[in-house]
Amino acid sequence: MDKKVIYSAVQPTHCLTLGNYIGALNNWLQYQQEESNDCIFAIADLHALTVRQEPGAYRERCLSLFAQYLAMGLDCDKSILYFQSQVHQHAELQWILNCYTYVGEMNRMTQFKDKSAKHADNINMGLMDYPVLMASDILLYNSNYVPVGIDQMQHIEITRDIAVRFNNIYGDVLTVPEGRLGKVGAKIMSLADPTSKMSKSDPDVNATINVLDEEGVIMKKFKKAVTDCDNFIAYDPDRKAGVSNLLSILAVCTGKSIEQTVADCDGLMYGHLKVRTGEAVAAMLKPVREGYKRLMEDKDYLYRLAEDGRQRAHDRASVTLDRVKDAVGLIPRMGR
Ligand code: TYM
Repeated sequence: MDKKVIYSAVQPTHCLTLGNYIGALNNWLQYQQEESNDCIFAIADLHALTVRQEPGAYRERCLSLFAQYLAMGLDCDKSILYFQSQVHQHAELQWILNCYTYVGEMNRMTQFKDKSAKHADNINMGLMDYPVLMASDILLYNSNYVPVGIDQMQHIEITRDIAVRFNNIYGDVLTVPEGRLGKVGAKIMSLADPTSKMSKSDPDVNATINVLDEEGVIMKKFKKAVTDCDNFIAYDPDRKAGVSNLLSILAVCTGKSIEQTVADCDGLMYGHLKVRTGEAVAAMLKPVREGYKRLMEDKDYLYRLAEDGRQRAHDRASVTLDRVKDAVGLIPRMGR
């Protein structure tokens, strides 16, 4: 049986949030468990250069994210884990695909518009070209499924468009991928403003749970979570965004459906729902925090694992890049 290639990545902009965990990594872990999947997960360290990074802190944050991946249960024996910047084929394929992507398409990307508004003093080419690098990440590995949160779906759509456009000219060179959302939690909202997405870069510390937050901090943030003025629990993301967000989080932490979670919480006061959700999150994240601390004590081990991932990713990526170069008419190289 042909294995399905599962590909995804996170930017090392800050510590992982509960949104990243629920919207992405928790689903990656499920894909990793199945023998029929061939999983590849990257740290998108080129993507995060679109905003200014302090080099020393950035290097540390990239390694920290690698340790967070492992602490959450991603396993180098089952999946390929690597740093995007260490596999040069990403940037090369990006150049080629740039030539098959229109400026108008990039201008229409929601994240580009949002980020340009947020970083008005630094609207660099990377910010605009970001989706083409993401398309290159995905297409280099002939990925079938890309598990992400809702906010990345537009980038996957453009990846598909680019792949189809390329194939229409050159034949079946690229695999056209599909985005995959989790059943629950594809968009975890801010605890401080449940009408906006929980985001790594939110300046309000109470808005975001970081996966490395201590239990006391987690409980404090949940107790402050914004809900509404009603006094009943129901799942209705449009009218009861805060309560629905808590219910989604609780459902994922306990492995239950939304319906079951709503039934379990029937009659609870909002305060109790907040405590119950906070406790479930703290219990889920405790082993991650502990595993992370142990892993960060042995950085050589992390570097060795990353090097193994780099080699495996590189070998796979070079096959696709050669195929693409051949398709567009570039002269093949003689050596490896
Ligand atoms: P990034 O780093 O912003 O987010 C990583 C993953 O977490 C998901 N996510 C959320 N899910 C639910 N609720 C939230 N509040 C929430 N916040 C973030 C995102 O949807 C994403 O799945 N461009 C990508 C990284 C990337 C990538 C790729 C992803 C680079 N190359 C190739 C897939 C395939 C990004 O910035 O994700």
